[in-house]
Amino acid sequence: MEYINNELCLGPLKKRLLPLCANYMRPIYVYDLDFISQRFNAMAKALSGVRLFYAVKANPNQQVLQHLKKIGAGADVVSLGEIKRAMESGFSAHDIVYSGVGKTRHEITEALKLGILQINVESLPELERIGAIARSLGKKAAVALRLNPDIDIKTHPYIATGLKDNKFGMELSLIPDLVACLTKYSDSLELVGFSLHLGSMMMEFSGYEEALRKLKPVFVEMQKKFPTLKRFDFGGGLGIFYDRLDLELEESLLRDYAKITKDILSDLNCELQAEPGRWLLAHCGALITEVQYIKKTSAKDFVIVDAGMNHLIRPSLYEAQHLIMPLKKTTETMKVDVVGPICESSDFFAKDITLGQVQEGDFVAIMDSGAYGYSMASQYNMQELPLEICI
Ligand code: LLP
Repeated sequence: MEYINNELCLGPLKKRLLPLCANYMRPIYVYDLDFISQRFNAMAKALSGVRLFYAVKANPNQQVLQHLKKIGAGADVVSLGEIKRAMESGFSAHDIVYSGVGKTRHEITEALKLGILQINVESLPELERIGAIARSLGKKAAVALRLNPDIDIKTHPYIATGLKDNKFGMELSLIPDLVACLTKYSDSLELVGFSLHLGSMMMEFSGYEEALRKLKPVFVEMQKKFPTLKRFDFGGGLGIFYDRLDLELEESLLRDYAKITKDILSDLNCELQAEPGRWLLAHCGALITEVQYIKKTSAKDFVIVDAGMNHLIRPSLYEAQHLIMPLKKTTETMKVDVVGPICESSDFFAKDITLGQVQEGDFVAIMDSGAYGYSMASQYNMQELPLEICI
């Protein structure tokens, strides 16, 4: 993001944002498809040989999905809704990996009928349920075991998933029971993979490395029992900087991540898979909102905009700090809280920040909101959902 002729521009092709506001009605999420290509290609290059299954939950916009399919992504989904959205956007069942701790009978049945490439199983009762449903359908379910290595990646507790007190994945001590269940359902379950996802916003990789080292010998042992075991899915979770745009440093972190992955896993006799979401999408989107009021109190000054926590919940939920930039460059600045119209004090985008001087009717962009923005939006307070525009 940078200003050209005093206008904020997005992405490598420096696309202008102000024209999108010509007939402004309500907050707009804008996504730059060329920027998505750039991120995807960078990751595909660093992780060459790894099949990338884009985590649809980050941004299920249909044009975004169509674009990712076109440039070579698979899809990682966590519900029947996401399966349908992915397939409507051009992904075939063979492009889809299905994760999630709470898959219902109906969801499993539909996934099996569709012939989803791989179901990442998160508990013993789920494996049992998939085995029984597949048997009743006369199908063989391709399953991967999501293992929880009990490792801390030092992220916000709400997005950590690889610790033993998290609901995700299965403890290694459960393996004998999993083997028994796979054997019991040998007619309807086929073990095809291991999967791992330690959490989101991983910025250093010592925990990740430890997890790969822990799972590798387990994989080798399991492969002796189950020769069909042929994939290792090392999940998503690679983080980005929200406080600055430093794509070079991010690409160097990506290279470190890729090197650790390949150093440890490349001599396994298997295919490698990943499930990135945020790294591909976050920088490629912004939420544009209009300043409604500048409200001054004896304690502080507020910039009240028409987007709220219902449109972008990350600051309220994870204390995430997104940069906020006026669409028109300013020379003066102001020290303010940027807040929305929702009737809660948790409805803020930033506190005590230095913002370019804006006034009523100006537009600002809340940056890096291409991932987990619209996909987590609600209509709380009966506010309308934002518009979405791909450029
Ligand atoms: N695979 C699985 C099984 C996941 O649960 C997730 C994210 C991903 C892949 C993709 O992770 P990513 O590469 O995007 O970090 N709403 C939160 C993030 C929640 C992540 C949930 N799972 C946020 O806005 O920070």
